[in-house]
This record gives sequence, C-alpha cells and structure tokens, in this order.
Amino acid sequence: MTARRILIAGNWKMNGLSADGVALASGLADKMKSAGAVNFEMLVCPPTTLISKVADAISGSGIQLGGQDCHMNEKGAHTGDTSAVMLKDIGCAYALVGHSERRTDHGETDAVVAAKAAAAQGQGLVAVVCIGETEAQRDAGKTLDVNGSQIAGSVPDGSTAANTVIAYEPVWAIGTGRTPTSAEVQDVHAFIRGELVKKIGADEAAKTRILYGGSMNPKNAKELLALADVDGGLIGGASLKVDDFWAVAQSI
Ligand code: PGA
Repeated sequence: MTARRILIAGNWKMNGLSADGVALASGLADKMKSAGAVNFEMLVCPPTTLISKVADAISGSGIQLGGQDCHMNEKGAHTGDTSAVMLKDIGCAYALVGHSERRTDHGETDAVVAAKAAAAQGQGLVAVVCIGETEAQRDAGKTLDVNGSQIAGSVPDGSTAANTVIAYEPVWAIGTGRTPTSAEVQDVHAFIRGELVKKIGADEAAKTRILYGGSMNPKNAKELLALADVDGGLIGGASLKVDDFWAVAQSI
C-alpha cells in the first residue's frame, strides 16, 4: 500500500472580497501554525483577484495556493484569462482544471481540460483534474462510463502522481447537500484508480491522490476520508468558513 498524503482543498469559487479572503486565509494560517505538524496537506483556491493577498496571508503556514482554472496557452490575446505561468508567478503550486462549473459555464471539453492540465504541469504546477457524472448520467447507469471517459480524455498522457490529482465530483452532489453513499464513493474511486492504471501505469496510479468533492462538510468528512481510495476532499461551501474547513481537516 502506497502512502498518499491526504489533501484538503478549498475551492472558494467566485466568493469573497479582499477583507473576507484575507480573514479566511489568516484564520486558516493561524490554525495551521498553532497545530504544528499535521497529517495532511491544505490547499486553498481563491478567486484570481484574491490570490496575491491570500499568498501574503498564508505565508509561512505551509498552506498551498492554487488557481481555479488556467488557460492552455502561456500568454497572448486571450482577454480575461489567466495562464499557468501567471498563477505560478503569484505563488500558486496547484491549478484546478475541468471543474464541472467550467465545463458547464464555459463549454470546456475533455480535450480542453487535458490541454489546461498539461499547461499547468508544464509550469511545475499540480493539475487537479475534476471529473464527475451528472444526475441524468447516474440515473441512466452511466456513472462509470462517464468517469472512465473523462479520465481517458482529461488526464494528459505522461501525467504522474507528482503533478496530478484527480477530484471526483458528482455534479449532482455539488452544493446540494446530497452525497453518494460511502460505498458508492469508494466504488467510483477504486474504478478511477483502475482507469488511471491504464492511463499512467500501475505505479503512478497507486500514488495518485483521488479527492472526493460534492457537499463534503464537517459532518460527513470523517466517513468519506476514511475510505480506502479517498485521498482527500475538494470542498466548496464548507471551505468558506475557517471553523468548518478546519473541522473537515481535523476529521482525518
Ligand atoms: P461544494 O462544492 O462543497 O459546495 O459541494 C464542491 C466543489 O464544487 O468543488
């Protein structure tokens, strides 16, 4: 059994102005500093406007910083976009790619997501590749097919456990307060690891962290994080309050 370090990742989405972001980040940094050695890695992904301020607020705390998206190109005529090297330049070590809200709101396909993940990896960032089925796909019995084809299409060839994290987020569980059962989560995670074996080989697949996301909160985190193939969480709503996000991390 390969030891995988649990990753507790906060996806702030399009939330927070300067004061909120700094207060949240400082609150988490204080918790981390007073906790000393911890058995997990913590990541926060603020809106792009707050990344620099959050970088200052978490400095020296060990908390990692990530963007919520990156462009597939390094620079150029792409109004409104942010590239991986820009994220790196302001202190990010991670970039989320292919979140279901990006896929829905911006029509991102697996090929686009793979190109973004490759761009992030190319700058030395860890790409957090998000996948997950919709409710209709689940009802139609297509959960494994959908997640399998998203792994095949969204994870770049040559990815490694060091530069890639997978986040399994059933679309119907995001922000709804609903989650699959623990047995269902474990089944999908084990299946995803099997698909990763095909994509990046058994050694890397065994070391790759697979996060669960979708209504993870202080109440359900302990059970979800105890599952054999769940290596952390990607947390939206519950990452916006210091005490809730910290409680999720403490439930490992
Ligand atoms: P949620 O969001 O925790 O609010 O369900 C998770 C996510 O979309 O990453």
